[in-house]
Amino acid sequence: MKTIGVLTSGGDSPGMNTALRSIVRTCAHYKIKCVGIVRGYSGLIEDNTKVLNTRSVRGIINKGGTFLYSARCDEFRQASGRKKAYKTLRNNNIDGLIVIGGDGSFTGALKLKDEFNFPVIGIPGTIDNDIFGTSHTLGYDTALNTVMDAIDKIRDSAISHDRLFFVEVMGKDAGYIALRSGIAIGAQEILIPEVNTKINDLIDSLKNSKKSGKTSSIIVVAEGYKPGKNVYQIADEIQEKLPNYQVRVSVLGHIQRGGRPSCFDRVLGTKMGVKAVELLKDAKTGIMVGTQHGKIVTVPLKKAISEKTKIDKDLLRISKIMNT
Ligand code: F6P
Repeated sequence: MKTIGVLTSGGDSPGMNTALRSIVRTCAHYKIKCVGIVRGYSGLIEDNTKVLNTRSVRGIINKGGTFLYSARCDEFRQASGRKKAYKTLRNNNIDGLIVIGGDGSFTGALKLKDEFNFPVIGIPGTIDNDIFGTSHTLGYDTALNTVMDAIDKIRDSAISHDRLFFVEVMGKDAGYIALRSGIAIGAQEILIPEVNTKINDLIDSLKNSKKSGKTSSIIVVAEGYKPGKNVYQIADEIQEKLPNYQVRVSVLGHIQRGGRPSCFDRVLGTKMGVKAVELLKDAKTGIMVGTQHGKIVTVPLKKAISEKTKIDKDLLRISKIMNT
């Protein structure tokens, strides 16, 4: 392993820069050349690369986003695009590739492995935490803290005006952000795609809380929770059925993806970066670096994208207890 390539792909997440710094410096430690590919798989197709040394990654440990830029690349989904990408890897004498991203990015990495027998390692970088085999993806912890801070502020206004707020958080297919942040902010209800909460159950819950003297409430809604209606339509229906409430909607959006990585994500990104380089150095391929119980683990990439981590039922139970 003389040269390692690295790219960030899909939605950016806090901690990607930290992992890049770690990969570049671990390569330097082992005297391996490190080539950064700019804008994910698009850069791989267009041969947009730059050699990275220890000084290229100074001052980024605390920065959100990714200094290599990221993209969602349709051309790479075509065999012709992947052929061009493979040519870039060959042109730059890259012997192995580290892909930092989510399940779509890992699917692309596996294609390179399966179609060209090219060595690939994945680091799970997404705020959604929807990758199997790791308790935390890179950026999830930071996003949770961002959501918690934002909803704490919304709560000030909810209390001052006796209002009911629906707060939509990210997670296009998964409710991990909603569930954990919902517990942390004391949500009245948490609506996630994994649980089929009926609007009538929501109404009962709100009526009961009103009876017990509650004057304001926050409902956390995962982006992926769509019982045939979006968050605005759900809020309208509730407003119609509970006219005594003043209902408001707040969609947190992309603020959840940015910002300084938390201590947890910085340490995680650093550990994952070291392990990813060492795996390639040891001729391992098709593997994702994950974490379980504070320790770094490895998981076959195929498994990481084909299986789904079950939602923590105990958190749901705890949330219900808190609502009584
Ligand atoms: O992939 C993470 C994610 O944050 C999803 O939860 C969200 O739906 C999506 O990215 C938004 O992606 P984009 O920025 O491309 O619209």
